[in-house]
Amino acid sequence: MTDDTTSKPWGGRFTESTDAFVEEFTASIGFDQRLYRHDITGSIAHARMLAHVGIITEKESAEIVDGLEQIRTEIEQGEFSWSVGLEDIHMNIEARLIERIGETGKKLHTGRSRNDQVATDLRLYLRDEIDDLAAAVRRLQLALVGLAEREADTIMPGFTHLQVAMPVSFGHHMLAWEAMLERDHQRLLDCRKRVNSMPLGAAALAGTGFPIDRAFSAGLLGFDSPAANSLDAVSDRDFVIEFCAAAALIMMHLSRFSEELILWSSAQFDFIELPDRFCTGSSIMPQKKNPDVPELVRGKSGRVTGHLVGLLMLMKGQPLAYNKDNQEDKEPLFDTVDTLRGSLRVFADMMPAIGIRRENMQAAARQGFSTATDLADYLVRKGIAFRDAHEIVGRAVRFGVDNSKDLADMTLDELQAFSGMIEDDVFSVLTLEGSMAARDHAGGTAPQQVRAAAAAARARL
Ligand code: ARG
Repeated sequence: MTDDTTSKPWGGRFTESTDAFVEEFTASIGFDQRLYRHDITGSIAHARMLAHVGIITEKESAEIVDGLEQIRTEIEQGEFSWSVGLEDIHMNIEARLIERIGETGKKLHTGRSRNDQVATDLRLYLRDEIDDLAAAVRRLQLALVGLAEREADTIMPGFTHLQVAMPVSFGHHMLAWEAMLERDHQRLLDCRKRVNSMPLGAAALAGTGFPIDRAFSAGLLGFDSPAANSLDAVSDRDFVIEFCAAAALIMMHLSRFSEELILWSSAQFDFIELPDRFCTGSSIMPQKKNPDVPELVRGKSGRVTGHLVGLLMLMKGQPLAYNKDNQEDKEPLFDTVDTLRGSLRVFADMMPAIGIRRENMQAAARQGFSTATDLADYLVRKGIAFRDAHEIVGRAVRFGVDNSKDLADMTLDELQAFSGMIEDDVFSVLTLEGSMAARDHAGGTAPQQVRAAAAAARARL
């Protein structure tokens, strides 16, 4: 970066040049460079609008558009030289435009301020990122649906309180994560509606005295409409916060998912095997294979939530309209986008490749009396009230605990000691398959319901 403190675009009313450290301290060019494409797109639409209403000529507009397009190429080819002295992406590009095309370049900023410009850039940027991230969420959803289809009959223990509760289909479990991601996808699209409103035309805060046509610029930029109130348009960052809230929810989901993968890949569970290429070893313990990817995603969820809280704090004390505080919105937003994108990508790559240890899951489901509820339901079908059935089965479980015997391993005599209503048709009820198949309604874990849910999800995706 070069340093040219001498010629500030706003230098007119100043008698001394900016303190060297203040210049560094207030500059955003180090991070808002990322907005260059959207800044140029916004400026091109503004220039076209200025010509459309006759504030500049068509010839001037064409020169400006051409100059901006060449600057875009310069930046893309790494030939642009960024200046901290020019503070931010907006003034860097504008100064270069004037350098390239001369006097006409000085007309671009007519009827506009950096305040409506930066808010417009940020919305254009986030709109693109939301589209990209929504597709990344979809990709992970599809990976989970694929697993659900393949593993609909795979039995694992379902847990409550991390204690074995009832047998469930592994495919059903995968579709639980898919259901969360479906809501996440909806939240991103819903947020996009409020992102897609155009601040341009609000100028510094009050609008402009020039006869601008905001609907024309909004049409060129694909915004649904111009923002209704100029003060709100330049100061509103709700859309950034809403996006970060949606992102924090996705990361929270991925963090919970990560926690399960970490538990399941431990020697104690041994339900899954993470592919080697998603793990690392230990520099001291040769036997170690660590689940780094899910651990990192779990860790990164904290960072994204931190950005959300940081942005809420950034906004909470600001009077209307634009304040320089708002420059602090970019780094947390950019980092949220990057972190979310990376986490979604690594999950979508990893999930189809995990190894499923079906025998271990099934053996674990057999422990912990996971079909006790099925026995109680059986007694209810024989005419016993559920509360009484619960009590009877509780006593049978107690017996099983004392004698290290699962319900399915007890003899008919042993079972009949708890209730004379128990007959030899009880054993089919006590199997894991029987328990799972019995939950045969929409949303239940019966393999045929899981297959139907997976098919519905695939159709929806
Ligand atoms: N770099 C600034 C930001 O990111 C652009 C807007 C500055 N406007 C101003 N009046 N200083 O918010």
